[in-house]
Amino acid sequence: MPANALKADPRLYVALDLPNVDAAQAMVNQLGDNVVSYKVGLQLLPLGGAEFGQRLKAQGKNVFYDFKLHDIGATVEKATRSIATLGADLLTVHARPDVMASAAAGRGESDLKILGVTVLTSLDKAALEAIGYQDTAEDLVMRRVDQAIAAGIDGVVSSPLEASIIRARVPDDFLVVTPGVRMAGGDKADQMRIATPQDALRFGASQIVVGRPITAASDPVAAARAIISNMSA
Ligand code: C5P
Repeated sequence: MPANALKADPRLYVALDLPNVDAAQAMVNQLGDNVVSYKVGLQLLPLGGAEFGQRLKAQGKNVFYDFKLHDIGATVEKATRSIATLGADLLTVHARPDVMASAAAGRGESDLKILGVTVLTSLDKAALEAIGYQDTAEDLVMRRVDQAIAAGIDGVVSSPLEASIIRARVPDDFLVVTPGVRMAGGDKADQMRIATPQDALRFGASQIVVGRPITAASDPVAAARAIISNMSA
């Protein structure tokens, strides 16, 4: 297949962790038709990121708001109801049973899909113990996957290395979204538990999230295309 015939893969969400919406829009323009799905997270959300997400939707993109909500049930429900009016596709909340159930109630009949963040990939066993959790990270992830299903949400965010045990336990249409994706030999930055795009999908990810390997690359288009081609290799 000629290089310019590579099609965008909607399963690739590019994390727009950039300082302002102008920089984010410039990255979206640069990536053009190569990328159709974007994640807007905590760096941009306080700076007009929610409205920017609506603009992306108007440009025909898929939008993932990474709010990682965590509050009392009533507040999570109302926040989710507000976010559902923005027309995005995906929203994260922390994977606590009450938080997930409230988000499921708040999204109502909208098309917004809710993802539970199982265990942050930056937490190791010692960090979990310091918080007061006795479970290993893997046990805690599986406990929260079961709770996510019981709460009626649509999927979870996990490290790619946990995707296969999650996939073996959940319905086929349950989303398993994995950050921590790097090309072989790529810069890991602060990600500890990583896999290649191809492996993350093989392990059972339904979508992958890639930020800096694309947005900080000297040639973001080439980096995105290398990832898209690896996804279908
Ligand atoms: O730049 P990089 O590819 O590491 O970006 C990964 C993105 O996924 C970041 O926006 C980060 O906030 C998000 N994320 C993560 N690990 C989680 C949950 C979300 O890296 N457990």
